[in-house]
Amino acid sequence: MHFPHKVRIVEVGARDGLQNESVPVSTATKLELIRRLSDSGLAHVEAASFVSPRWVPQMADHREIMLALRDSHANSTTAKSATTYSALTPNMKGLEAALECGVREVAVFGSASESFSQRNINCSIAESLARFAPVVEHALKAGVRVRGYVSCVLGCPYEGEIAPAEVAAVARELKAMGCYEVSLGDTIGVGTPLKAKHMLEQVSREVPITQLAAHFHDTYGQALANLYAVLEEGIAVIDSSVAGLGGCPYAKGASGNVASEDVLYLLEGMGIETGVDLAALARTGDWISRELGRPNGSRVGQALMASG
Ligand code: HMG
Ligand code: MG
Repeated sequence: MHFPHKVRIVEVGARDGLQNESVPVSTATKLELIRRLSDSGLAHVEAASFVSPRWVPQMADHREIMLALRDSHANSTTAKSATTYSALTPNMKGLEAALECGVREVAVFGSASESFSQRNINCSIAESLARFAPVVEHALKAGVRVRGYVSCVLGCPYEGEIAPAEVAAVARELKAMGCYEVSLGDTIGVGTPLKAKHMLEQVSREVPITQLAAHFHDTYGQALANLYAVLEEGIAVIDSSVAGLGGCPYAKGASGNVASEDVLYLLEGMGIETGVDLAALARTGDWISRELGRPNGSRVGQALMASG
């Protein structure tokens, strides 16, 4: 067993979580959510998406969000200034807009499934990689770090099974372009622990495990079990979403990411450090669930709120 001593949580609730909400969420509510997430000790908060507002209307206020966060950083003397706020940028148009807002980190997002790539970003896998290369190059020249995502690593809503070799090939390309980390997305939450391990074994032959992250959705309730399996392999970066918010608008039926509170409870129980205050995060999960008028998707959050 090689469980890590420390895990970095990448909180994606304000992006992956909210992008799928059908009711418009105000910019002020998003900023309040991001402020609370950062105050709970999360060092990396994915905050917006520079994508087409026609494709994902909920992310249309990306400029306002990232400009407000830039200003809050500039005016902050507290630990908050240590938080990295990142944004998705699928193409040069997105990157240019993000750079104008002073972002410090962006992410490109590819897929291991051809059909999902077409539905999500309107191009093939090869076209997407050709599109990302200049995005990564320009970002790095501007001193901005780039994270890479691979979607459908454990299954695709249109194609079903995805071969781990496909995942490994896309991950390798993203790393070769200059992504400092590649996050492996079980977009529709269909994976199971041994499958997750097997996929990771293959991918880690191309990208070192220290440069990989797990991004698991919890549609089938397997995310925590899958995370335990990949933690055992040495994964030390986990993407999660407060109150289990979310889903992907181009993966019908996909539910939210694994809940951040549930991940923290698991990690605390294993003696793995995160630097995040679970009680504060649970209060944030409760607050945003009420704001959105939806049940809290975190079992741990529910339990903590019920026990006062
Ligand atoms: P396209 O239609 O092929 O792009 O879309 P285009 O270059 O032909 O442009 C069409 C229109 O979009 C034009 O506007 C462009 O200006 C505009 P029009 O002239 O029609 O008014 N446009 C943009 N606007 C704002 N920002 C941009 C941008 N680029 C073009 N960056 C595109 C291609 C990628 C833009 C589109 O497919 C898109 O926006 N897709 C959104 C996909 C998305 O956000 N999906 C959810 C995130 S991925 C995810 O959730 C998975 C993940 O969580 C991991 C996992 O779970 O697996 C990361
Ligand atoms: Mg996702």
